[in-house]
Amino acid sequence: MLEEEYEKSRRVLPLHLRRAPEPERPFSYEIRPAQRTDMADVREIYNYYVTNSVVTLDEKKWSHAKWVDKFDHLHKLGLPFLVAVSPTGQILGYGLVSPWTGGSGYRYTVENSIYLGQAATGKGLGRGLLEALIAACEELGIREMVAVISDKGAEASVALHEKLGFVEVGRMGRVGFKFGRWLGTIYLQKHLHPKKKRRSLFGR
Ligand SMILES: CC(C)(COP(=O)(O)OP(=O)(O)OC[C@H]1O[C@@H](n2cnc3c(N)ncnc32)[C@H](O)[C@@H]1OP(=O)(O)O)[C@@H](O)C(=O)NCCC(=O)NCCS
Repeated sequence: MLEEEYEKSRRVLPLHLRRAPEPERPFSYEIRPAQRTDMADVREIYNYYVTNSVVTLDEKKWSHAKWVDKFDHLHKLGLPFLVAVSPTGQILGYGLVSPWTGGSGYRYTVENSIYLGQAATGKGLGRGLLEALIAACEELGIREMVAVISDKGAEASVALHEKLGFVEVGRMGRVGFKFGRWLGTIYLQKHLHPKKKRRSLFGR
């Protein structure tokens, strides 16, 4: 036997002596309010979908400054912006709500937005974040939540919203264009159960 062949075979332990592979760790996370310092990670997560998918109709990556502005704006309005964090401190995904369109008469309605890092999808985290957003909005006195979803490539998002009681209320065809194809939007809506009555909300 050549020396290198001996070395090779010597390193392979018989099966009964080999260490059992580490069991896969259960997927766990904590949901907490986002902080300004999370915006670099939030940007990474979102920009992946800007570049690689039609689940968002944004075509240009968001800068860090744009995310910080968005965070400051929502923070000032007192609207929930949540992140899910792994036990090692990695940001796995985020969920936020923004005011629904411009007029003050729409102050009881918000639009949600949830994006997870690719590796964190399909494990129940989207449900966890959306449930937490709904609870936070009900606490604030918000009455309606709307989701505007691309009609292509966003099956998981439609499924998630429908599982949590959102109902499709309309569609618009060919209102968007990205990566050389026309896209439509699906509108889903959920009536919330506000915990308090408010006269004004998020500064309106
Ligand atoms: C959309 C997204 C937030 C969903 O979160 P998720 O963690 O992957 O979904 P969950 O594992 O919580 O699944 C929620 C429910 O939807 C169902 N579901 C998820 N993906 C599905 C799919 N592709 N087809 C059918 N059902 C699906 C699940 O079975 C689950 O049902 P259950 O709670 O009764 O078991 C996540 O996949 C994501 O970030 N995708 C990319 C970005 C995106 O599309 N954002 C939304 C833009 S509008």
